Amino acid sequence: MKGSIPEDKIEEIRRRADIVSLIGEYVTLRKAGKNFLGLCPFHREKTPSFTVSPEKQMFYCFGCSEGGDAVSFLMKLNQLTFPEAVRHLAGKAGVVIPERTVSHEEKERRTLREQIRQTNELAAGFFADALRSPAGEGAREYLRKRGIGEEAISTFRLGLAPDGWRHLLDFLGKKGISPQLAEKAGLIVPRAGQQDRGYYDRFRGRLMIPIEDVDGHVIAFGGRVMGAGEPKYVNSPESAVYTKGNNLYGLARTREAIRERGFAILIEGYFDLISLWNAGITNVVATLGTALTRSQIDLIRRYTTHVAAVFDSDEAGRKALARSLELFLAGNIHARAVILPDGYDPDDFVRTRGREETEELVARALPMVDYYIDEILGGRGTLEEDRDKLREAVSFICRIEDAIARNLFVKKVSEKLNVDQDVLKTEVQRALSRAPAPQIDQPRRKTAGEIDHLELSLIHMMLEYPTLTPRVAESGVLNCFLTEELKSLGERILADAGKEEMPDASSLVSGLAEGPVRVKILALLMRESPYHEEWMDRLLVDTTRQIRRKWCKERHRILRRQIGKAEEDGNGELCARLLREKERLMQEEKMLA
Ligand code: CTP
Ligand code: MN
Repeated sequence: MKGSIPEDKIEEIRRRADIVSLIGEYVTLRKAGKNFLGLCPFHREKTPSFTVSPEKQMFYCFGCSEGGDAVSFLMKLNQLTFPEAVRHLAGKAGVVIPERTVSHEEKERRTLREQIRQTNELAAGFFADALRSPAGEGAREYLRKRGIGEEAISTFRLGLAPDGWRHLLDFLGKKGISPQLAEKAGLIVPRAGQQDRGYYDRFRGRLMIPIEDVDGHVIAFGGRVMGAGEPKYVNSPESAVYTKGNNLYGLARTREAIRERGFAILIEGYFDLISLWNAGITNVVATLGTALTRSQIDLIRRYTTHVAAVFDSDEAGRKALARSLELFLAGNIHARAVILPDGYDPDDFVRTRGREETEELVARALPMVDYYIDEILGGRGTLEEDRDKLREAVSFICRIEDAIARNLFVKKVSEKLNVDQDVLKTEVQRALSRAPAPQIDQPRRKTAGEIDHLELSLIHMMLEYPTLTPRVAESGVLNCFLTEELKSLGERILADAGKEEMPDASSLVSGLAEGPVRVKILALLMRESPYHEEWMDRLLVDTTRQIRRKWCKERHRILRRQIGKAEEDGNGELCARLLREKERLMQEEKMLA
C-alpha cells in the first residue's frame, strides 16, 4: 500500500535518501572496505555483522539475515508503515510531497498510529505556546527557580497545560481532531457516568514534558504539578504509539552526544535528564520511572555499548542495580555504577556540586560487576550471612546467559567471598541443571530453501549489470526458470528496464516477500561482486545455456512419466504427441551442447 504519495515522488525520495547517514543515526557504523559495518539493531551481537552498502543503498545483516533498503530499514526499526517511512525520508531529503486535500476516506486510511502522533504534535505545540503566553508566567517562574534555561526549554519542548477542563479539548476540536482520537492519544478523558457526557482534559495546570520517540515524534506526555500536590506526575496512558518499557526519555535529543562521548549516562526521571542537559552534561538518557527493560537496553545499544547507570545508595537503589546488572550482562553492555551520595538525585547533585564534580563522579564509577560483588555480595559478615550471600551469588550467576561472562563472575565471586572456585562452579552447575534452560533470544536465521543457484546467478548478474537485461529478455530464458519467485523477480527487472528511470536493485529487492530468496539475493549483493565486466558476455551466454539444459532435463523427466502413463492407458494419440515433443526437446538439447 503506497498511501497517498505519488509513485514518482517515492522514486525521487528513494534516489535521494542516503542509507549510510540514515542508518548512521541509529547504528554506530565504521568503514570496512567499500561497505560500513556496525552492531545489528535487529538482534543481539558482540561482533558486527550488520553491513551497509553506500554503493547499493542497501543493508544486510549476515547474522540474522535482516536486510533491505532505506525505507524497509525505517519500517522495521521503528515499526512504521510504508507511507510513514517514506514521509520521514522525504523530510530528511527535502523532498516536498504535495499535500493533496485529504479526503475523508484518505483520513480514515491513515493509520491510527500516525494520527495519534499527529495529535500529540498539535498538543505539544499548544502546550509550548501556553508556556510562552502571559498565562505561562507562573510556570516560567517555576522553571527559573529550578535553574532550567531557555535552551533546555525549547530543546525539550517544555510546555504548560493551562488550568481548566477543556482548553486542549477545544483547541484540538478547532484543528479537526475528533474527541475519539484525542482520547486514544490519552490527552482527554471521557466523563464518568452515562455515555456521551463529553470529555475533559487529562492534563490541567501542569508543566508539560513531551516524551518523544528516537526520531523526535511526540508519543506521550508527562505533566508535573508545580509546587506541592499529588500526584507529582500525571502521565499519558500507554497507547498505540507508546509503551513505557519500549521507550527512553530524551534519546532523540541526546543520541548524538551519546555517540560522540562513547557512553550514555542512564538515570530515572524527566527532570534529572533535563537538569543534567541544562548543566551541559548531554550524553544522558532516562527510563520513565519504571525498572529498566530488555527492549530499552536494545534501544541504547543502537548508539553505544557503554553505560554509566546512576543509582541511589539506599536499599531500593541496590535492588535496582542487581536487576539491571543482569540485563546489562545479557545485553552485552559494559555498565558502570554511579552511586550518588545519600539523599541526592542527579538533579540535586549537579545543581549543588556543579558540572565538573558530576562528570568526575561519573568518570570514577566502577564496573557494575565489581561494584555488585564488592558492595552487595562482599563486606565482612558472619558465616551465616556469607551463606546467604553465597546463595544470592549462585542464583545471580545462574541468571547470566553468557557462558564467558558467567565464568568470569564465578572467578571474581570466589575471590571475594573466599570460596573455592570449583565449589562455586559445582553449585552453579547444579542450580543450572535444575533450572529450566534460559530463554536466549536466537537470531532469526532464515534457512535457504530450494533455490536454483544458476537462476540465482543470472538474476544477480542482471542486478549488478543492468546493461545485460535486454539480452536476457531476447533469450527468453526466464521461461526456463524453475524457481517461481526468481522468475517473477526476473520479469520485474525486465519490465523495469523499459522504463525511463530505472529503479535500482535496492528497491527491487526490498520489495520481495520475506523469505529465502530475498535473503540470498541481499547477501549476494552485499558481498564484493564476483564478476568482471569483461567476462560478463561469456558468463551470460554460459549461464543461460546451463539453465536451458537443466530445464530440458526436467522436461524429459516429466515427459518420461507422462509417456509411461499414456502407454499404460493405451492412449495412442497422446503418446504420439508426447513422443513428438520429446523429439523436439532432444533437438534443442543438441543445439545447446
Ligand atoms: N514518575 C512518575 N509518576 C510519579 C512519580 C515519578 O511517572 N508520580 C516517574 C517520572 O518519569 C519521573 C521519575 O519517575 O521523572 C522519577 O521520579 P522522581 O525522581 O520523583 O521525579 P523527578 O523527575 O526527579 O522530579 P522532581 O525532580 O521534579 O521531583
Ligand atoms: Mn528530582
